[in-house]
This record gives sequence, structure tokens and C-alpha cells, in this order.
Amino acid sequence: MKLVWGIDKVIAENLAPFQMPGHKGRIEQDIYKYDLTEISGTDNLFNPKDIILDTMRLIADTFGASHSFISVNGATGAILGALSTAFNKGDEVIIMRNSHISVYDGVFLLGIKPVYIYPDENMLERLKALVNDNTKGVVLTTPSFYGEVIEDDVFEFLVETGITIVVDESHGSHLKLIDDELSAMRFADIVVHSFHKTLPSMTQTAIMHLCTNKFTASFAQKNLKLFMSTSPNYVLMRSLDIAMDIYLSQGWELMQDLLAMCADFKQKLEDETDFYIVYKDGKQDKTRLLIRHKDSVDYNSIDQQLRFMGVQTEFSSQLGLLLMPSIMTIQEDFDRLLDALKKVTLHKVDQVFYKIFRLEQAIPIREAFLQQDYPLSYQDAVGHIVTEYIIPYPPGSPVIVPGEIMSQELADYLDNFEGNIVGLEHEGYVNVLDKEE
Ligand SMILES: Cc1ncc(COP(=O)(O)O)c(C=O)c1O
Repeated sequence: MKLVWGIDKVIAENLAPFQMPGHKGRIEQDIYKYDLTEISGTDNLFNPKDIILDTMRLIADTFGASHSFISVNGATGAILGALSTAFNKGDEVIIMRNSHISVYDGVFLLGIKPVYIYPDENMLERLKALVNDNTKGVVLTTPSFYGEVIEDDVFEFLVETGITIVVDESHGSHLKLIDDELSAMRFADIVVHSFHKTLPSMTQTAIMHLCTNKFTASFAQKNLKLFMSTSPNYVLMRSLDIAMDIYLSQGWELMQDLLAMCADFKQKLEDETDFYIVYKDGKQDKTRLLIRHKDSVDYNSIDQQLRFMGVQTEFSSQLGLLLMPSIMTIQEDFDRLLDALKKVTLHKVDQVFYKIFRLEQAIPIREAFLQQDYPLSYQDAVGHIVTEYIIPYPPGSPVIVPGEIMSQELADYLDNFEGNIVGLEHEGYVNVLDKEE
């Protein structure tokens, strides 16, 4: 029972949990007896008439959606369902180049034509330049992993254009507890929430909200179902209901406590150490903590030391340490974190900057992905059309997508990248379309 033992071992470490999921393992429930199926009294996720329908209505009312649908296949499934609801084959859709891989999977599966906004561009200006008569819609991610929220003027412009707005608000299920105006639900047609990331719900629970009447509930449900198991897990659905109960009965108070703990932690961190917290000007989720040091230091080493001292971050990268407290986080967690940060040994490193690559898309993602391919080293692949995603983690968005041509600059970057690279069969090699030029 290696999985059981491995998980038990980690639990026994009694970590201060600053990583997902939002329930922080602090809900005591006897899981197995809740693992039911569609029988009399348990309703049916895909034809809800009773308890599931009531739960979905409760969620819709709470979040101010016209309809809300449960996904037991995470935000990944809900994003695929949202894209399938909103777009058709050949539609021109603007997406953020640093979108989560599920957005790219939707582009691939549905045959959407993506048009990119790059992270170093002014989003509003770029959108104004890009939207034209052929634009069917836009897929935006807000907040970012770092808690940065897209400003209202971007959405106000998009609403005026009338194009379909899909928002991946995976990291923002909790935002309305802070301030209604942080959520994109006021503007978007469809919003996806990954409940498990920041609310006290189990991993893989998510919601697809319809926020306008552009799409009917039955059409959205039909599309979402394409990406769900026909045996939706009741333990997951139950946990979502528990999360809603906590959200409604104590959510606001718990969020006030969390905001106060974050503010207090920030103050102490900055008074008592050389670490600080990075918040963007303007709209920002203040519960998302990107911690940096005033010097250029090795955050991966700090991360390992924190774990050794019993503190688990969400991740570390050259950008800093990312911590994801939630309404289930307690003061003791912050105390342990502060205490550990005071004790870490710092290793200075050269400052590294994230690069943004703009590559030539030779053929569509789908066309490249579906063809026979061959592995080449990054350097040998320069000038070739790649057939897979290369996703340096963190931050977890692709630096190259199928159909794009490998550049010398990217090959050099990948050769020197020290984090994890996800998506490749063999590290150091990438699949390309042709063996020969
Ligand atoms: C921005 C973003 N969107 C979507 C997802 C997918 O969420 P889930 O894990 O619920 O499938 C993630 C997961 O990390 C994410 O970071």
C-alpha cells in the first residue's frame, strides 16, 4: 500500500500547510461511507432534480450566477466545458499566452484559432488592437497565480464589444468574500472556479458559472458533461456542499480573520526580516502571498529548508516563494512560517529574469499535435516545428505550443532551466515534425 503509506507519512509530518487545497486537511470526515452512486435519494449530476439541483441553485444564488454547474473533474474539466459551450471549430478567440494548459487543451480539442496576448503587453491596448469583426470571444485568467486581478477597464471594453467573455477564475473562488468587485463575475458570460484551490473543498471540485443569458443552462450542461466522468464522485460533491456551508455560515468572518492575519504577517515579515511581500498596484488578492528577499537569493533552497522546518509552500521559483493561505489557515501556521523564515540560511544567486518567447506558429496546434513525430535535442530542434507543449514549472504555462518553431533563444533557455519541465517524454529532447530539415 505504497500510496496509503506515503500519504500517511506526509500527514504525520503535521506540516503548516501553505499549499493547496483550501480545506488544509482540517475537516474530519469518514470518507468511504460517503462514496455512493446514483441511487434513490442521491440525485444525478447530469439530470439533477433534487439535492444536487438544490446545491447548484444555492451556489448560483450565493455567487450571483444565473446557473452554476458542479465539475468533479476540476477547473480543467470546467474550462473545457466552458470553451465547448462558448466556441465552435474555427472560431477566432483571444487567449492569454500564459493560460493554463487546460485552455490550450480546449483550443486543441475544439479546433479554436487562438490569438495571443503576451504577459508583457498592456492588456487593454492589445485587446483594443486585436478585437475585430472575426473575433468570437476572449478567455482571460484572473486572478493570476500571484493574486493579480485584471482591472475593470479591460472588462468594460470587452463587454461593450459584445464578444463572448470566458474567465478562468480558478484562483479566485474566495474573492467575493473579500470584495465583490474583485471577481470577474460582474462582466463575464462564463466563469470557472476551482473550488478546491482556495475554499474548503476537496481536490478536483470546481464550478462552471453562467453569468449572463447568452447560453442556455441545458446547452451548458450538455457541453460540460462531455468532459466529466459518468460516475461523478459523491465524496467530492459532498465536500463541495460542506465548503458552501462553511462559506455561507462563517465565510465572511473567517475571511476577515485571514485578511487580518495576512496583514499582520506582512508587517512582521517586513519589520523583523529582509523578506517582503509583493502586491501589484490596483486590484490584488491580498491573501495570495508572493514572498521575496531584498537580495537575489535561491528560493528553491529556502523552500527546502522551510519544509525541513515543517512548513509547506505552494511553490518556489526565481520569482520568490508562493504561499496560499485560505479561510482554514490558523494563526499558528503564520507563526511557524515567520519563525522558519527567520531561521533559513540564504544562498545568493545571480538574478534570473523570466523570459517571454514569441515564436512563429507554422501550423495549427491540432495539426501538429496529431502527427507522427521524432525526438531531437533542444539545440537540434532549432528551426523545426515542435509537436508538444513545453511547460517549465513553475510557473506552469507553455513556452512553446505544438505547431510553433523552436528558436535558438528558447533552446538556450531550456538547456539552462533548473526547475521542472512538464510535458516532455524525455528531458532535454522535444518531439518535432520532421527528422530532417
Ligand atoms: C489558472 C489555472 N486554471 C485552471 C487550473 C486547473 O484547475 P484544476 O486543478 O481544478 O483542474 C489551474 C490549476 O493549477 C490553474 O492554475
